[in-house]
Amino acid sequence: MDLHDKTFATRAVHAGERAPRPDYTPVTTPIHPTVGFVYDSMDDLDAVFATTRDGYVYPRYGSPTVAAFESAVAEVEGGDTAQAFASGMGAIHAALLGAGVRAGTAVVAALDVYGATYTLLSRLFIELEVAACFVDVTDLAAVKTALAQHRPVALIVETISNPLLKVADLPALADLARSYDTRLMVDNTFASPYLCNPLSHGADFVIHSATKYIGGHGDVMAGVVVTSCQNRVELFELNKLIGGVLGPFEAWLALRGLKTLPLRVRQQCANAAHIASWLSKHPKIARVNYPGLPDHPQRELAQSLFNERGYGGMLSFEIAGADQAIAFRFMEALELCLPATTLGDIYTLVLHPATSSHRALSPEERRRVGIGDGLVRMSVGIEDAPDIIADLEQALATLP
Ligand SMILES: Cc1ncc(COP(=O)(O)O)c(C=O)c1O
Repeated sequence: MDLHDKTFATRAVHAGERAPRPDYTPVTTPIHPTVGFVYDSMDDLDAVFATTRDGYVYPRYGSPTVAAFESAVAEVEGGDTAQAFASGMGAIHAALLGAGVRAGTAVVAALDVYGATYTLLSRLFIELEVAACFVDVTDLAAVKTALAQHRPVALIVETISNPLLKVADLPALADLARSYDTRLMVDNTFASPYLCNPLSHGADFVIHSATKYIGGHGDVMAGVVVTSCQNRVELFELNKLIGGVLGPFEAWLALRGLKTLPLRVRQQCANAAHIASWLSKHPKIARVNYPGLPDHPQRELAQSLFNERGYGGMLSFEIAGADQAIAFRFMEALELCLPATTLGDIYTLVLHPATSSHRALSPEERRRVGIGDGLVRMSVGIEDAPDIIADLEQALATLP
């Protein structure tokens, strides 16, 4: 369209836009912040709506930068396809609905899932008449009993649990789930796709809070579900209605973060192994939870599930005899490690589960799960381990 004969206002609106199609390809995926897409022919637009032609019509249905992120995550998780969401909780909620959770159905979940997942199931879904049963998923006999008793549509577990670092036996859980016609949903946030690909062990849905290791730099909130093409149809339809989609700016950041995931996680695993070993010998530490420690009950399982690539960058530890005040004092004394409510970043972060990630649980629920007031969770960053250890040492030295 020639704009020369148009008025100033018209030229200001349209000038520079929809220029002739480029004959070059940018090396990285551009950010596409548009909410509309135009086609030369209305038949093409109609075909995109009908999903008989590839393309985009409206970003709640899909958009190019988000699609690039989805395809990258599907690739590294070994899945057919992925659907991105505005947060990890958006992804968990949608995956549960996508797995068939409705009024009158049941869900079996790991006892020590992330606090918001626990609360979503034990408060909101209960109100929506979805029964929830929590079980220690490292006890396969207990899982079998729960599946037989509740006949749930979904079994949801975390590859490495938050914050107690238990490792789920995914192949065994997938077998059990299959025999009860239950969909296995795995929150793989703590392990990251670098350490574990749950779909290859029989999971039906893999979920990530991409806010964490996938984004990796503490600057973006995102979630993603990886699954089969068949399962994605339902997720896609649900997401068109619920609308918790990822934006293009966030998708671009998450996609950029993903590129360095293996480098970061390798360093985080090496650092965490070193720090866990050091902490386990410290007289002021009563217990360290880290799958790479020789006394961790699922160490061998972790070694095989994670392809001997490491044991993750997360650990938790109990300060001996500590109450909340002592745990807070320790966290305030840290200078390099940041007391921030997130994980999986390049920065080393500490968190007090009882008052943050698992705050919504009652004291009785926390006791049942095993989260005490002296428990500190640590997400190890990519700094040099001796600097992190020196910071822990000086902070522990301030305690009685
Ligand atoms: C294991 C796990 N899953 C899911 C979530 C929820 O992710 P988001 O905060 O991106 O909604 C979190 C958040 O900390 C988490 O730790």
